[in-house]
Amino acid sequence: MIAIKGLTKEYKNVTALRDLTMTIAQGDIFGYIGPNGAGKTTTIKILATLVKPTSGHAEICNYNILTQPDDVKRVIGYMPDFFGVYDDMKVWEYLDFFGAAYKIEKTKRRKIIDDVLELTDLGEKRNDFVEALSRGMKQRLCLAKTLVHDPQVLLLDEPASGLDPRARIEMRELLKELRNLGKTVLISSHILTELSDFCNTIGILEKGELLAAGEVSAIMDQIKGARIVEITLRQADDAPRAHDLLIAHPEVTAVEIDGADLQVEVPITCDDVSFINEALTTSGIRITSFRESEIDLEDIFMKITKGAVQ
Ligand SMILES: Nc1ncnc2c1ncn2[C@@H]1O[C@H](COP(=O)(O)OP(=O)(O)OP(=O)(O)O)[C@@H](O)[C@H]1O
Ligand SMILES: [Mg+2]
Repeated sequence: MIAIKGLTKEYKNVTALRDLTMTIAQGDIFGYIGPNGAGKTTTIKILATLVKPTSGHAEICNYNILTQPDDVKRVIGYMPDFFGVYDDMKVWEYLDFFGAAYKIEKTKRRKIIDDVLELTDLGEKRNDFVEALSRGMKQRLCLAKTLVHDPQVLLLDEPASGLDPRARIEMRELLKELRNLGKTVLISSHILTELSDFCNTIGILEKGELLAAGEVSAIMDQIKGARIVEITLRQADDAPRAHDLLIAHPEVTAVEIDGADLQVEVPITCDDVSFINEALTTSGIRITSFRESEIDLEDIFMKITKGAVQ
């Protein structure tokens, strides 16, 4: 659906993007993750045909971004990281304006506007002025705008930035709906956890270089890491005995004690940790809590950007 080959962008004294090659399949929700200045916006603007690469090329729905920009524009919906102010324009007029720009017939536009307003939960605001909307609503309106021409591919540059926690959740719900509609989505963020529960693939970019890309689970496999199980014992007195018992187990690589709390480390390849529970209870050591500390995308990101990847 999106095929990027050797994309490089040089500005006067920075290489914003270095030889980027990756593909995004139809129906993928691809999380494009990287810290400030990594080159996310540069990539997205190149794909949206707004910036020309120094070298390399890309295709979206088999259209070449360099030679067929008009076709590309038709199949993509681009949501920029900042959007302009439209004074004296009502919500529906704003959407109608973009619908007209995409040459959608006037009679069809009405229904489309109703649909996108409903999807983005802005139906009640249709006659409000754009400038009077809250930031979260403006952001949703901006997303509504990118949907007017029913594009197959969405390029969303940090759609949840600057939103409060509640508005972020609403934006996330909205993005899930787009996934359910079968859209292919490239969404950037520097906050990994924001993307973790609805992206199936991710790419991690730093200083213009793609450090890792692929299925979230495959990227986790690349990481030399450990699973940590956190246990609280009923009695702190049992901790030394629990330590000795567990450290003797072949699957356990480390045990740390802090009062009645134990942190037990096992290799990332160990997929069943119930033996820890069993070893303790059969020795008469009582447990009040047993939980695994989750390895989340944030951890993956920290490890990969610290060069811990194989
Ligand atoms: N028009 C420009 N002229 C010169 N340098 C630029 C230009 N646009 C971007 N850059 C540089 O390219 C690099 C990548 O910037 P880019 O905006 O793509 O990063 P980003 O990953 O989107 O960052 P952020 O998370 O802050 O949005 C940065 O070093 C930036 O300073
Ligand atoms: Mg950016």
